Amino acid sequence: MSTPQSGILPAASSHGLFLLFRRRLGRRADAELKALFASLPAQADALAAANPDSQFYAVIGFGAEVWPEFYPGEKPVLLRSFPRIPGAIHPAPSTSADVMLHLRAERYDLLHEFADQVVQASSHCLDVIETTHGFRYRDSRDLTGFVDGTENPENEDRARVALVGSEDAPWAGGSYLHVQRYVHRMETWNKLPVKQQEAVIGRTKESNEELPDEDKPLTAHISRVVIEENEQELEILRHSLPYGTPGGDQGLYFASYCKTPANFEKMLAKMVAPTSDGRVDHLLNFSRAVSGAAFFVPSREALARLAK
Ligand code: HEM
Repeated sequence: MSTPQSGILPAASSHGLFLLFRRRLGRRADAELKALFASLPAQADALAAANPDSQFYAVIGFGAEVWPEFYPGEKPVLLRSFPRIPGAIHPAPSTSADVMLHLRAERYDLLHEFADQVVQASSHCLDVIETTHGFRYRDSRDLTGFVDGTENPENEDRARVALVGSEDAPWAGGSYLHVQRYVHRMETWNKLPVKQQEAVIGRTKESNEELPDEDKPLTAHISRVVIEENEQELEILRHSLPYGTPGGDQGLYFASYCKTPANFEKMLAKMVAPTSDGRVDHLLNFSRAVSGAAFFVPSREALARLAK
């Protein structure tokens, strides 16, 4: 029996809080930290139950480098660091983050409260290196004005896409999580005529329809990330959200869950490197990644083992 952490499968939320942590120099994950993370799902459930309309969900994940301190001698088969893409002409930086906390809900106050408790209780071991408050923008649009999340898997497909299964039985119910913070060049983007914006994304802006193949450039975002292998499209479950401050950095906090890290890696490679067909994603002329990290999110049962 394996149960995924609560934040992976439910539909998109109005607010997200993404925290990246790095282990403090000279500190190792100790029993106190492990006990904190083992109890995290129960604490999140309690907060959700006390606030029934909040739809509060939480996820904690660990990176490849720190993994042996949490689970000595055992590891998910495909756990690896954030990819370095050979030949990349657009940045896809890797942030050396060891732990990720991804919270989401219909209310931001609960995200703040919960995250603050985790930050304080883990501060003897972990430093927070990036905190991003994501918010739903209009009818689930990215700040570019295009609806984001349309082609996400639905219903039972979400678990099929996001969760490790019998192929790695000890880690079933877990998920490979990738995040990247993108900063949009809003001024440049807003000067681009809508027709050209649509060619960059590969969908219409207002009505959110996919462009017909003859009008969809091979450099369009969706042309890059739709990859077929053995007549099957590679899939990921995205929980990205817009973030930002007026006049300051703003863009998309990208987050995806998958039963394998390979799908994200292949999509990213086709976005940033002209290796497969000499083309890259033209969306990256208007947005650049400034952080990136990869984690494995253990099932609730695997997380509970940290307390033993
Ligand atoms: C689709 C925006 C980064 C993977 C889309 C769509 C938009 C969008 C507007 C179309 C609607 C939808 O189906 O969701 C963005 C922006 C990004 C970004 C603004 C960052 C600046 C990424 C990255 C990946 C990715 C880094 C994976 C490496 C996908 C996938 C789809 C998609 C798989 C669905 C394609 C389909 O099946 O039609 N994105 N995206 N995106 N994006 Fe992105």
